[in-house]
Amino acid sequence: MATNAEETTVGNYFVANYPPFSFWRPEQVPLAGQVLDREAAPETPLGLYVHIPFCRKRCDFCYFRVYTDKDAAAVRRYLDAVVAEVAMYAQRPALRGRKPLFVYFGGGTPSYLSAEQLRYLFDGLQEHLSWDAAAEIAFECEPGTLQEKKIRTLRELGVTRLSLGVENFDPDILALNNRAHRAKEIYAAYATAREVGFPQINVDLIAGMVGETEANWQDCIAKVKELAPEAITLYQMEIPFNTTVYQRMKDGGERVAPVADWATKRRWVDEGFRELEGAGYVVGSAYTAAKPNTRFLYRDELWRGADMLGLGVASFSHIGGGHFQNEDNFEPYLQAVEGGGLPIHRALELSADEQLIREFVLQLKLGRIETSYFSDKFGVDVHQRFREPLAQLESDGVLSATNDTLELSRDGLLNVDRLLPYFFLDVHRDARYA
Ligand SMILES: C[S@@+](CC[C@H](N)C(=O)[O-])C[C@H]1O[C@@H](n2cnc3c(N)ncnc32)[C@H](O)[C@@H]1O
Ligand code: SF4
Repeated sequence: MATNAEETTVGNYFVANYPPFSFWRPEQVPLAGQVLDREAAPETPLGLYVHIPFCRKRCDFCYFRVYTDKDAAAVRRYLDAVVAEVAMYAQRPALRGRKPLFVYFGGGTPSYLSAEQLRYLFDGLQEHLSWDAAAEIAFECEPGTLQEKKIRTLRELGVTRLSLGVENFDPDILALNNRAHRAKEIYAAYATAREVGFPQINVDLIAGMVGETEANWQDCIAKVKELAPEAITLYQMEIPFNTTVYQRMKDGGERVAPVADWATKRRWVDEGFRELEGAGYVVGSAYTAAKPNTRFLYRDELWRGADMLGLGVASFSHIGGGHFQNEDNFEPYLQAVEGGGLPIHRALELSADEQLIREFVLQLKLGRIETSYFSDKFGVDVHQRFREPLAQLESDGVLSATNDTLELSRDGLLNVDRLLPYFFLDVHRDARYA
């Protein structure tokens, strides 16, 4: 039977990094030591990413490394390991004396931690790497974990961007997808967060949850518009291999996931963006709309080649032109750190051309590229370097080029993750993204 490319079948389409993770190698781990022994270029910004892999429940669509079975002692052991990990890095020449410009707590669910655990973690990390000069401290939350005390603690700890994984406002759809939070908890958490005064609140929604309908999606957009957070992220649902949804498809012999097809999801995000633009939001990337002058440093600096130190199980780092990923299972990660070693399990040193491609494809997700950025930083004319794929996308009507800019059409932007491999080196095309 012919495959309809628009059906949602199993697999990742989201391009999170370049070269793809499947090209990172255990044999290249010694490179991490060499990179860490080199001093950083003075003007390179530094970011810190801290992975908190705990959740109350595993959502059926989730593909992240998360644990729902860890007791307080295991959580404490993990927090101690993350602190021990940063202590090892802080004294290396590549990081010594540097202060992060941005900090990101991601997951899993960082807000799974109690107020006391959060203070313990923030204090412990900052004993080794102070972020008192950071312009952004972003923190991901599952709304049902946000009791008032915790929200106040997060503000006291200096969090500037609180990101709420709302996903959908309908109680039945949340339950059908095995989300832990209830619809009414969204409103309670949001109201307290507003009252406490975070400079920026972001709400994540996913177009195409199991059970999603036209009417429900419109209702979700109306409700998020009413809440009026500074930033709104609209994801298109993907069903990677390690999800419960895929496990059920496999057990039932189904090839197509029980969610909307790609054309529908793109249309929903497009309609959502248009509604939000009508309410004064600006579409800033393939996934985000934000009120004017709302910055998101984690994204913007990372996509412009900032160094980022990733702590915790399965975390990714990008330092001095090298990619590193930590051990991606709980015990091996803990044992590596507790044994006094860096828990890195695969790495890749990028060539100058690969660094250029990486920043180019990541910035294309913003929908607009300033070509002078690449001539100034890499001494490369991107019109020449990417002559063939640019001509292809122009003739497909999804990209327009001037001397100074490359701009995706709205259709191109909503499809961007499928277009990016056009710019990859041949050897990296058709790779697995896991
Ligand atoms: C780490 S979670 C955010 C914090 C918290 N764990 C939560 O879910 O509320 C990051 C976001 O990824 C998105 N996401 C997760 N699985 C997805 C999938 N299969 N397709 C598209 N987006 C997904 C969700 O919008 C989720 O809020
Ligand atoms: S709460 Fe977030 S990280 Fe945890 S399982 Fe659900 S989507 Fe994944």
